[in-house]
Amino acid sequence: PRTVSRTADGHLEVGGVSVADLAAEHGTPAYLLDEDDLRARCRDFADAFAGADVFYAGKSFLCKAVVRIIDEEGLFLDVCSGGELAVALAAGFPPERMGFHGNNKSISELRRALDAGVGRIIVDSFQEIERLSELSKTMGKRPNVLIRVTVGVEAHTHEFIATAHEDQKFGFSLAGGAAFQAAIKILDEGVLELKGLHSHIGSQIFDTSGFEVAARRVIELQAQIRDARGVELPDLDLGGGFGIAYTTQDTPSTPGDLAKRINKIVEGECELASLRKPRLSIEPGRAIVGPAVFTLYEVGTVKDVDGIRTYVSVDGGMSDNIRTALYDASYSATIAGRESTAEPLLARVVGKHCESGDIVVKDEFLPADVQPGDLLAVPGTGAYCRSMASNYNHVPRPPVVAVRDGASRVIVRRETEDDLLALDVG
Ligand code: LLP
Repeated sequence: PRTVSRTADGHLEVGGVSVADLAAEHGTPAYLLDEDDLRARCRDFADAFAGADVFYAGKSFLCKAVVRIIDEEGLFLDVCSGGELAVALAAGFPPERMGFHGNNKSISELRRALDAGVGRIIVDSFQEIERLSELSKTMGKRPNVLIRVTVGVEAHTHEFIATAHEDQKFGFSLAGGAAFQAAIKILDEGVLELKGLHSHIGSQIFDTSGFEVAARRVIELQAQIRDARGVELPDLDLGGGFGIAYTTQDTPSTPGDLAKRINKIVEGECELASLRKPRLSIEPGRAIVGPAVFTLYEVGTVKDVDGIRTYVSVDGGMSDNIRTALYDASYSATIAGRESTAEPLLARVVGKHCESGDIVVKDEFLPADVQPGDLLAVPGTGAYCRSMASNYNHVPRPPVVAVRDGASRVIVRRETEDDLLALDVG
């Protein structure tokens, strides 16, 4: 994150506060949020995509303080469950700037979204169109909807493959004609306000050609709908998924580059199809909050296993970052509380859980004098770490501490053992 630096005595510092002070005040492990960095990333996207709406994907990380920051920076908000909606509403986020996603929203979630006046609901199945239409009639509402289109582009980290037939649970198939039928159904029934199409091709994507193919295909569908019913849909959402650098090998595009490429393809395709350019929106989560946070751990044991490998155990692990175990994700780590001139040692950073797959960083060079008591920072943990954290082994989840201008504030407090016991009945 941008306000992180090393002080003369070798301590990492964030937002003008040294990690040693932060560890002393808040304990470890802790997620440390560089608030200036988060705000700057919001502004980078908003500026780069001027004229489009940037929906922050709350699934990447959500709490009331972050909702307020997103609001203050003028972004929109994507929620995908009743719980996320509740956090957003509790923080006072304007419902008309929210989008509501999900492949299996319950009737009660849909009702709450309608009650609150959520700005757009992204419909994902014919059954949902029926459910939402029934509810809307009963409640006397006419919600704005987008159709989630499965465009047949499956994006992976460094490549994308186009498949004619997509085997996944989200959206309406484009190739199979379901997306077109969904649009016709909504338009002909006239209960829901069809605002546009939506496509999300995946996450942690570096190859922007996936977005270009997706944009081309949804615009073609837009033209088909216009030809069938004479309606030019005003909105187009191209989803999130912009990759970030977890290690030095990752080279993400800047928001400016992304915006340029996406705008160019959308303009070109619309011109070809003689369509007015729709109002664009995007839904970045990881690219906004991911790099703004690092996790601060304390080293507990250092074990050399028969000369094969050195295991450095920290006081958290797969309960605060499941991504390494789940996706074989790559992270880096650095000693944060001091500087060392010792030789580099290839180490594996592991957690404290009762499972050998409990790995935080698979391979990292740490100074050979790494020792118990050392503070260890793992950057890039803002997205899908706290939001996917668990209580495995009854390990309380770490706090999220926002740091800015030389001061820190807890925005999500550390869980306690009483919290863990609070749900036990009897
Ligand atoms: N919009 C939609 C409809 C999505 O499904 C997602 C992510 C996003 C936006 C935001 O994607 P982002 O910009 O954050 O990549 N747990 C996985 C990622 C799952 C993403 C799910 N959908 C991980 O840790 O990598």
